[in-house]
Amino acid sequence: MNAAAPQPLDLDAIRAQFPILTQKARGKRLAYLDNAATTQKPEAMLQAIDHYYRTSNANVHRAVHELAERATLAYEGARDRIAAFLNAPREQIVFTRGTTESINLVARSYLQPRVQPGDEVLLTGMEHHSDIVPWQLAGAKTVAAPVDDRGALIFEEWLRLFSPRTRLVAVAQISNTLGTINPIADIVREAHARGVPVLVDGAQGIAHLPTDVRALDVDFYAFSAHKLYGPTGFGALYAKREHLEAMDPWQGGGDMIRTVAFSGSTWNEVPYKFEAGTPDMAGAVGCAAAIEWLDALGVERVAAHEHALLEYGTQRLQEVPGLRLIGTAPHKAGILSFVMDGAHPQDIGTILDLEGVAIRTGHHCTMPLMERFGVPATARASLAVYNGADDIDQLYAALMKVHKLFS
Ligand code: ALA
Repeated sequence: MNAAAPQPLDLDAIRAQFPILTQKARGKRLAYLDNAATTQKPEAMLQAIDHYYRTSNANVHRAVHELAERATLAYEGARDRIAAFLNAPREQIVFTRGTTESINLVARSYLQPRVQPGDEVLLTGMEHHSDIVPWQLAGAKTVAAPVDDRGALIFEEWLRLFSPRTRLVAVAQISNTLGTINPIADIVREAHARGVPVLVDGAQGIAHLPTDVRALDVDFYAFSAHKLYGPTGFGALYAKREHLEAMDPWQGGGDMIRTVAFSGSTWNEVPYKFEAGTPDMAGAVGCAAAIEWLDALGVERVAAHEHALLEYGTQRLQEVPGLRLIGTAPHKAGILSFVMDGAHPQDIGTILDLEGVAIRTGHHCTMPLMERFGVPATARASLAVYNGADDIDQLYAALMKVHKLFS
């Protein structure tokens, strides 16, 4: 039997759940198109955090009083919810401050003790700085496979870059700058065939593609809650159990220990040995609520909605004279990066802002990619579930103003 086509989303009903979107920006209707930087937050997520602080706040895993019990249940319940969303066992979800901290944890606890001078981490040319610099700090050499003129990974080149020194493969699920969707299943298959583990930077993927870490067989998967309609400052690392067991903690403190003596200490079980100090309980609760909300909509429906909007946006932007899209890979998610003749991206961003259109401009923490495309910066519109054709039309109208001013 064929899978049923995803049902269209009720955009008005979705937007009504985002209080921030009802505001005007610079006196104009707000078209929020900076979702790759951070998404806005639905009422259900805001209420979950509010409810947690009003009814259940206490420290976790420590005291026996009723509030402590409620807080611990809320925190560990959030772990169950987050794990289920990724199809991961709960003990393999380590809570962190976000994608960056998750990757740094792997760099410090997994890679650094295993790396010899000259050992390599194999990347793609479209990685975010947070998937480049932590490996360098851990002492590895970073080797990046090129992307083609459309912004797709050149897979044969990537394969050619494996060497006996390759200790880890790390790759973005979706490029934050180009929107390119990378072939994770193929990457994992080829890396594992060579005995190399794979880390996936899921920052831009998790809210836009259904993700099953066990089906993908990834070794590590990092994500942030704030790009998934959840709170800032919270995220997680999924890792295979064998890696978590073999890794030493990277931060010491409360809750990560089993015993402490001046002669030496022993570690708590996974995932707690990686969660030193009082954790972000409200962050976990908010992240789980955001996931609950997104899951009820269905990530596949969201992806279909965003894809249709990407196609519409691509077509409209191509109608703007002098505009060049950067990133036109065949497998793409809802990101529209572009440059315009005569106008610096910073000017584009400023003029768009005056028209109520929020986008990001700059190098998007992907300096090597900017060099590859020979541009110092791009303007970038990035889509989320609450965006519609009206946002794209507002973007188009504002871009026509930029064109008139700078041509
Ligand atoms: N990494 C985020 C972005 O692409 C902040 O905007």
